[in-house]
Amino acid sequence: MVQGFSREPGTEGPLADIPEGGRRRVWRWAVVIALGGFLFGFDTGVVSGALLYIKRDFGLSAFEQGSVVSVLLIGAMLGAVAAGRMAENLGRRKALGIEGAVFLIGTAILVAAPGYGALLVGRVVLGLAVGAASATVPVYLSEVSPKEIRGRVLTLNQLMITTGILISYFVNLLFASGGQWRGMFAVGALPALGIVVGALWVLPESPQWLIRHGRRDEARALIVSVAGEERADHLIEQAQRRETQGLRSDSPRAGGWRVLLEPRVRAALIVGLTLAAVQQFGGINTIIYYAPTTIENTGLSASNSILYSVAIGVINLLMTIVAIKLVDRAGRRRLLLGSLASMLVMLALLGLSFVIGMNALLSLLFMVVYIAAFAVGLGPVFWVLIGEIFPPHARAAGSSASTAVNWISNFVVSLVFLPVANVIGQGQTFWVFAAVCAFGLWFVSRYVPETRGRDFEQVDVALQTRFRKRPQVGAEAG
Ligand code: BGC
Repeated sequence: MVQGFSREPGTEGPLADIPEGGRRRVWRWAVVIALGGFLFGFDTGVVSGALLYIKRDFGLSAFEQGSVVSVLLIGAMLGAVAAGRMAENLGRRKALGIEGAVFLIGTAILVAAPGYGALLVGRVVLGLAVGAASATVPVYLSEVSPKEIRGRVLTLNQLMITTGILISYFVNLLFASGGQWRGMFAVGALPALGIVVGALWVLPESPQWLIRHGRRDEARALIVSVAGEERADHLIEQAQRRETQGLRSDSPRAGGWRVLLEPRVRAALIVGLTLAAVQQFGGINTIIYYAPTTIENTGLSASNSILYSVAIGVINLLMTIVAIKLVDRAGRRRLLLGSLASMLVMLALLGLSFVIGMNALLSLLFMVVYIAAFAVGLGPVFWVLIGEIFPPHARAAGSSASTAVNWISNFVVSLVFLPVANVIGQGQTFWVFAAVCAFGLWFVSRYVPETRGRDFEQVDVALQTRFRKRPQVGAEAG
């Protein structure tokens, strides 16, 4: 099995150290790939507005309304599970193209839905695409990026997610006067079409995948187009040397889940799965999905709920831009630690504000700072890390597993938030989320290595060291 450039220190992603023109190309590709993130945000956000009118047109019960929202999350879990094998067997480009096509099909079913049953089918199909794309995008972005800008390129995914959420609110506003929920869903067809067209005519296949699958000539042509003839030869030479040095047999081509059982992948898997769960059990979507309800519980009027949602969406997006600026400078660990610590404090205060009944505006303030803290760290950095910590041959499967856990956790939290808050109290529920952030803080400081500017081999060494012995906390080497 050819190991590709990625095993060679200094060449993580064959596109290391590329000139300015090449970088611009990479950014263009990245924007098209990250349309997958946009649809993630759009399709999870648009339903809240659409539901108001669907409910009226089809006379849906509360349970039926909830199911229209949450079946997407179930579809997304299944999509995420399927994505790993697809991206490994067919390649990243084809996988993303197929996901774009499924987006289109799901959107078409929703737009034409004659009743509740068809709505559910449309939402599940859309979920399959959302989940699969959310697993494919980080891997694809990671593999077309030079390491110097890899953090920024990967954070683009989260920026597109937050943009998608925000645009969905505006689309809801736009179509609200006529109650045209079909129009709301239809808007999602545009970026989906962008993905299909991009996969057919704009995007290259991941060079790392090409090399691993023995398609060196294609990989070379691609590297030349970005890094220039001279560098390409150097990079290809390294890869060839690597190939003759010894073809390891622990990298099954099939790209199945078995790769995740390899001892070498274990540490990355623990980090990926744990961060996936912490990202959701830290409570983010109880604010993103239920902000108006929660705000109303503080005592403020919810009549302007869409305005609160927009404000939260704007802060979410702006702070993600800050993350883009910081992720390759401050590094992933610092952002994660700062983010989790601030979320923890805000959740503790938010809980307290409910329990002792503080001024409603204070609760709102804690909520907003909490969102900002998530957006600058835990939000983007989870998606960045799942594109970086897995060995190349297990990257698609590892991303797939982590993403699936993220969607399952999202589903569980969304489902139980309101009932649990009813039983133990709203404030106490926020304290549970605070405890999850405290655990996350310990876990990150203990087990998550810095990946900024590092090749996979360096990341791997740091990861294995952290899992083998107690590291010097905060040590740069970690
Ligand atoms: C999370 C989503 C969340 C979004 C909010 C993402 O990183 O995975 O569940 O809705 O951030 O911006």
